[in-house]
Amino acid sequence: MAGLPYIVGNWKMNGTRAMLNEARAIDRAAQRFPKVQVALAPPTTLIHRMREAVELIGVGGQDSHSLENGAYTGDVSAVMLKDAGSDFTIIGHSERREYHAENDAHVKAKAQAALSAGLAVILCVGETEAQRDAGDAEGVVTAQLEGSCPIGDGAPEKLSVAYEPVWAIGTGRVPSVDDVAAMHKAIRAKLISIYGEAGAEVRILYGGSVKAENAAELLAVPDVGGALVGGASLTAESFLAIVGAAA
Ligand code: G3H
Repeated sequence: MAGLPYIVGNWKMNGTRAMLNEARAIDRAAQRFPKVQVALAPPTTLIHRMREAVELIGVGGQDSHSLENGAYTGDVSAVMLKDAGSDFTIIGHSERREYHAENDAHVKAKAQAALSAGLAVILCVGETEAQRDAGDAEGVVTAQLEGSCPIGDGAPEKLSVAYEPVWAIGTGRVPSVDDVAAMHKAIRAKLISIYGEAGAEVRILYGGSVKAENAAELLAVPDVGGALVGGASLTAESFLAIVGAAA
């Protein structure tokens, strides 16, 4: 797997201008961790301001539409995210799949549009607790990859995959390191089946209740190339502890 460990903070629907101070503090500290790639995905309203406030860290969106423009009230296109200063976009987060009824076909179209617009893509996959209890976790996740991985135009070079078990998001619960290792191995095999040898280079992040206390253990799991962090990315102190664990 290529590249530095990639630690991405997803602020979700949190943050007004005052929170740019956290981004500035993270950016200043990032120079102490040259062997970690650090990025934040603030709400869309803060992307442009954050881009202007930071120098070292990446800035990206949390979602983007599959079309460049049109009559889609409330939506934002990948071209617009790029224009606002984004480097990447998160696509297919389980909160989008659940609350906005996004299926794999939507996710694939969005990912392809984002790559075409010149953004890197973090594509999220993950099983629910019921699916894991039924023994279907790997089947669900590999089917999500089959249905939603973008083809062409920067794929897979500008693609990262984030494995986020839905039941671990915001709950304080995390899978065992053995379960994370098994899932990342299954994801790797699927990426190679989709992209050939290039699939071996795609970074696979883990997300779901990553905190300072568990980050080192999770990041040491084979084929875990970084973390997608929600709640613990909202303050510089808690996020930098995770960045430090990746260094
Ligand atoms: O995108 C981030 C994930 O949904 C993880 O969120 O760290 O609050 O569990 P969390």
